[in-house]
Amino acid sequence: MALFKKKEKVNDEFTVLPKHIGIIMDGNGRWAKKRGLPRTAGHRAGADVFEKICKECGRLGIEEVTFYAFSTENWKRPKEEVNTLMRLFYDFLIEAKDRIAETGNIRIKFAGERAGIHSELLKLMDEAEATTADRTGTVVNLAINYGGRQEIVSAVNKLIAGGKTEITEQDISDNVYTMPDCDLIIRPSGEERLSNFLLWQAAYSEFWYSDVLWPDFDEEDLHMALHEFEKRNRRFGG
Ligand code: FPP
Repeated sequence: MALFKKKEKVNDEFTVLPKHIGIIMDGNGRWAKKRGLPRTAGHRAGADVFEKICKECGRLGIEEVTFYAFSTENWKRPKEEVNTLMRLFYDFLIEAKDRIAETGNIRIKFAGERAGIHSELLKLMDEAEATTADRTGTVVNLAINYGGRQEIVSAVNKLIAGGKTEITEQDISDNVYTMPDCDLIIRPSGEERLSNFLLWQAAYSEFWYSDVLWPDFDEEDLHMALHEFEKRNRRFGG
């Protein structure tokens, strides 16, 4: 009889997986600059990587991934760059809602402030949320027009509007944009900061940084982050 029980595997590759991953897709501009291309080319390449990583998360059985796609501060970027990003979101949502074979069995959710987003894109986001709601694969939260502080303020305002005069942590958790606590934050491109991403949900997140620029990020990089996560000893302050 074996003395030690083999560690049970969640799939063939990992013994433990984060339930909710947050990804900061950083480095598109630098990737383009290195190649003498406009920043928009970096975002296009980044959008392809986003789709690839969504699929891989689905294959691995990750429950939920939140991608930081556009912050409340990103409106300050040149108009052409903002328009390209909005177009990429639009094209992806059309694909995700209608072509399950291409984007996988993902469920799309939106995380961010609606005010400021073009009505056509909002309509499509609502449609994509509705048409993918019954899917059983990975939940993909698109953080668009997202700011972590704004998210907390908006949750508190919702609670005040609902008549609350005393607020608990659970109240805020219940009123941030639908996401559960985040287990792992991945940030490529050499920057080691949170940049106003998932401030509430990241209270006990593990962090994984890498020098690779987002358009060069691939399944191997995701696996490296997940293997590192497997080794972390999470104590949640206890
Ligand atoms: C930050 O890198 C990246 C962004 C502001 C945009 C991220 C968006 C995408 C990758 C497109 C995702 C597409 C879909 C469909 C969700 P940066 O451009 O600021 O890089 P830099 O720091 O090198 O300049």
